[in-house]
Amino acid sequence: MRLAGKIGIVTAAASGMGRAGALRFAREGAAVAVVDLDDEKAQAVVQEITRAGGKALALAGDLRRDDFAREIVGRTASAFGGLDFVWNHVGHPGPAAVEGVDMAEFERAVDLNLRTVLVTTDAAIPELRRRGGGALLYTASQSGIQGSAYSPVYSAMKFGVVGFVRALAKRLVREKIRVNVVCPGMVDTPMLRVFVSRPDSAGPRPNDIEAVVQQSTALNPTGRAAQPEEIANAALFLISDEASFITGVALPVDGGATA
Ligand SMILES: NC(=O)c1ccc[n+]([C@@H]2O[C@H](COP(=O)([O-])OP(=O)(O)OC[C@H]3O[C@@H](n4cnc5c(N)ncnc54)[C@H](O)[C@@H]3O)[C@@H](O)[C@H]2O)c1
Repeated sequence: MRLAGKIGIVTAAASGMGRAGALRFAREGAAVAVVDLDDEKAQAVVQEITRAGGKALALAGDLRRDDFAREIVGRTASAFGGLDFVWNHVGHPGPAAVEGVDMAEFERAVDLNLRTVLVTTDAAIPELRRRGGGALLYTASQSGIQGSAYSPVYSAMKFGVVGFVRALAKRLVREKIRVNVVCPGMVDTPMLRVFVSRPDSAGPRPNDIEAVVQQSTALNPTGRAAQPEEIANAALFLISDEASFITGVALPVDGGATA
């Protein structure tokens, strides 16, 4: 098992890539805190893990609240006896518009792509230090590597995440804390539907969201969207000791879209 004896946190873990990661990390031997706004779905992920013989804990709450973003670290460490990794996966597409931008949506994007990630990281570093090192992983996007005409605000946030990761990696490298970020292309999850259906992304809000998803994913070099498990596989590698000499990396998992 590739994460035997490790203890970790996955945010936005009740759905999509986060859920796939939590299930995969637990199968590889990690005890996992499943953090999400949606208590019922988080509990379902925990049940799936425990039924398969793994260890997990559901922590339900809103990561836009600083106290919750911080408290997930202490609650995980006291439940399982320490902390070895965090996958800060939570994020939000934000507004598609620049002209006529909805500032409440902008604030939500800042909160979920940047603010909560910083608060959780602040709380996690001392715990990782106590274990003599560990891994911090983040989620940016293909739009965090190249500009997206449909999403200048989202690109700003995700370029920000990539910048944070590169800088933090240099700061923490001598403490054996590795810091990396996965940059997914389009992934078949509920958030992809949110992304393509925002007003302004292709004119007015589309009626047939699945048709827009099909058209958008057909533009990927592979002609398809990724499955959440394909991103979880990359996350597993970056968290595991197999990536022991890899830090400060923004890994595209995008079917060649940014090649
Ligand atoms: N799906 C894609 O195509 C895609 C592509 C690139 C990057 N991303 C990034 O991946 C991450 C999540 O995407 P996904 O597709 O796995 O999502 P998803 O839609 O499958 O799941 C998102 C989860 O986040 C939870 N959540 C939302 N707001 C929250 C809050 N305030 N506090 C706690 N939990 C909250 C939801 O309850 C949900 O379970 C984001 O960072 C997103 O920017 C997604």
